[in-house]
Amino acid sequence: MMIPDVDNDSMVYLNGDYVRLGDARISVLDRGFIFGDGIYEVVPAYGGKPFLMQEHLARLARSLKAVRIDTGKTAADWEHLILDVLTRSGLDTCMAYLQVTRGVAKREHAFPKNCRPTVFCMVSPMQRPDAAQREQGLSAVSMPDERWLHCEIKSVSLLGNVFAKQFAVDAGVDDVLQFRNGHLSEGSSSNIWVVKDQVLRAPVRDHLILEGIRYGFLERLAAQAEIAFESRPITRQEVDRADEILLTSATKEVLPITRLDGRPVGTGTPGPIYARLRTAYDEAIARL
Ligand SMILES: Cc1ncc(COP(=O)(O)O)c(C=O)c1O
Repeated sequence: MMIPDVDNDSMVYLNGDYVRLGDARISVLDRGFIFGDGIYEVVPAYGGKPFLMQEHLARLARSLKAVRIDTGKTAADWEHLILDVLTRSGLDTCMAYLQVTRGVAKREHAFPKNCRPTVFCMVSPMQRPDAAQREQGLSAVSMPDERWLHCEIKSVSLLGNVFAKQFAVDAGVDDVLQFRNGHLSEGSSSNIWVVKDQVLRAPVRDHLILEGIRYGFLERLAAQAEIAFESRPITRQEVDRADEILLTSATKEVLPITRLDGRPVGTGTPGPIYARLRTAYDEAIARL
């Protein structure tokens, strides 16, 4: 099969074997396909070296535990697998995508017994944020967060996130800010930060957001740069009055949101807190 827009000849890991992406096959009864019953992880890499690998491995373990999938693999096994796929890809700036589903079984909702998890890993090229995104920032629109109440699990059941991203695309902007009960949750596939009077804030790490690996990382960068940080519920009004809004994710790293709902955020240009965190982020990548 020829899948458009991907490197069909790239080698991917599937259940212990390396196969061409264009040839990789799973059963139609895989519970990932049937129920979205699985989890995933995305590890960015620079110069072929994974960034924040231990943090990604820790979240992978948390996700597997949350959905009660036991692969029998240790953190060292996962690390070895991800490094192996990265090395084989020969790619420089890229991301490793790892997915684990509960496996293949008769279609019944309850967890099947004696089911072997499906493990898939591929590496794709990654575009770092370009000069225009860094210098002009991103645009976003607000929308109600209509997802379920286990957003803390990095589950492959992503229909809510897919709808959110399409909402942004339909509105002609880069991403969304989702709000639940009057409070900021997150973007379609990113964490959102708000700056007011030099204080950096992010919504609390609970079941309503996915704790990005950049959540803890930015918190550390802020501490090193002596930027005050607070994790607490953020109201709609605080977002509207923000001096700066930032977005973080593995692929977007850290970027400013300079337009929200058609209006400028603060001055409408990337702010000073963003600039300091951006520099610190670039320096951390350069040290890899
Ligand atoms: C819903 C959601 N929130 C936050 C994030 C940011 O997580 P990370 O920093 O680990 O990329 C992601 C990443 O894909 C996401 O899908």
